[in-house]
Amino acid sequence: MSAEIIAILDFGSQYGQLIARRVREQNVYSRICRADVTAEALSRLGVRGLILSGGPASVRDGDAPRCDEKIFELGVPILGICYGMQLGCQILGAKIVAAQRREYGRINLSILEKSDLFANMPDSTTAWASHGDQVADLGSDFAKLATTDTCPFAAVRHKDKKFFGVQFHPEVSHTPKGSLILKNFLYDICGCSGDWKMSDFVSETTEAVRRQVGNAKVICGLSGGVDSSVVASLVHKAIGDNLVCIFVDNGLLRKNERENVVSTFRNHFHMDLRVIDWSRHFLAGLAGITAPQQKRKIIGSEFIKAFKSEASKIPNVKFLAQGTLYPDVIESGSTDGNPSANIKLHHNVGGLPAELGFELIEPLRDLFKDEVRVVGEYLGLPEDILWRHPFPGPGLAVRIIGEVTPERLEILRTADEILIDEIKSAGLYRKVSQALAVLLPVSTVGVMGDERSYENVVAIRAVETFDFMTADFSRIPHEVLGMISNRIINEVRGVNRVVYDISSKPPATIEWE
Ligand code: XMP
Repeated sequence: MSAEIIAILDFGSQYGQLIARRVREQNVYSRICRADVTAEALSRLGVRGLILSGGPASVRDGDAPRCDEKIFELGVPILGICYGMQLGCQILGAKIVAAQRREYGRINLSILEKSDLFANMPDSTTAWASHGDQVADLGSDFAKLATTDTCPFAAVRHKDKKFFGVQFHPEVSHTPKGSLILKNFLYDICGCSGDWKMSDFVSETTEAVRRQVGNAKVICGLSGGVDSSVVASLVHKAIGDNLVCIFVDNGLLRKNERENVVSTFRNHFHMDLRVIDWSRHFLAGLAGITAPQQKRKIIGSEFIKAFKSEASKIPNVKFLAQGTLYPDVIESGSTDGNPSANIKLHHNVGGLPAELGFELIEPLRDLFKDEVRVVGEYLGLPEDILWRHPFPGPGLAVRIIGEVTPERLEILRTADEILIDEIKSAGLYRKVSQALAVLLPVSTVGVMGDERSYENVVAIRAVETFDFMTADFSRIPHEVLGMISNRIINEVRGVNRVVYDISSKPPATIEWE
């Protein structure tokens, strides 16, 4: 990995990942660490600079998260943001108090010292803040860099140590000059040259995979989604035919999904792809089952059986390649990730258990989703794969409310194909984060021709979201909804009514089950 690393010490900020992103956007590699990571560990990592994030606590509370105070002796520049500023100032001798007036939202910043952190800044600018505490007394070791109407020390610098603090959030888009401030910190203060590029990532990672694997075989569960597709392509680039991909057909897939995966990976990329049709077992296991979590359990355990059965046929397998991404690493707290973010996705059915006995290869574990797409693009993966909406591991089974049967799967598969087709034709596929059709277990009355019908209802859901944790329903134009409804009712036998889901998440989830 690149020699220039910026570590972000995360004090539980909702923006920790955003800071990491903003740093990487400046072509400097960043890594989020626990707030209490030791100075020694940071020194081993060879950091060029540190950013102390914001956080919900108050430095005046006894149990508020602290950092190793020796980080101020490392000699590398440190930028404290909000809570990080208050903590740094407190450790270096300033006094922090509860502000008389909380600053929340947009603030007007007057810049007093237009050098270093604020080089090339205008005299005043807006910024976004959210804090209850503030620095009250700086002492004589600090210089004041900026003020607001209610906050005399909106930005400060220590006169001897390379510590800078900003009371506002430069990482959010509501701080228009935020990227300039970060750029000043990274380039001018930390001396980074901004040489972190995706092409380096690909060559360094393929080299590392090659070294780790030697002549052993690697298997990879390929689902056709973005992450597993990029992992497979990257590992294939590294070790060619020593990678074997396994695609499990669970019978719960979208129309032509299996054919598309085979055509891309076997025919186009010439990978050793084993397709295992386990649909009979999945459907038998699901017969009579209506409870969503039970469906997930059955599908999860059948997936493992299918995968194991195929993997056992491949000799000399030592490694399993997985598409773990950086947000998963942070959320599971499985490395030096942060202690506060604990919103683990509750239902990753595609995961494989450790007892399979393989060593893991996770070449994407330092990347964010959009960076994964850039890598995929670089590796020549087609756009349809890179920009594909997420599709849940349990597939259409959690979009058929009630029992999953072959007939109901066929109805939903056809409706889903029409939905996606129309969303794409209307040019909305990238705007919408995820679109899906749900088959409801109710029949309603209709008229078709001269006859009364009594048939199924399909619900359409389309959401827009940044992180899939919260989402709003997409304002799809009525004409497009009309077209979707018309086509589904006319072309899918067994459906006489289509409804559009206008709930946001929370309280409704994206999937219906
Ligand atoms: P919810 O329904 O919780 O979904 O709002 C958030 C995101 O997660 C996907 N999802 C799943 N993905 N296995 C998966 O791999 C699952 O069991 C599962 N359930 C939901 C969902 O499609 C959305 O992108």
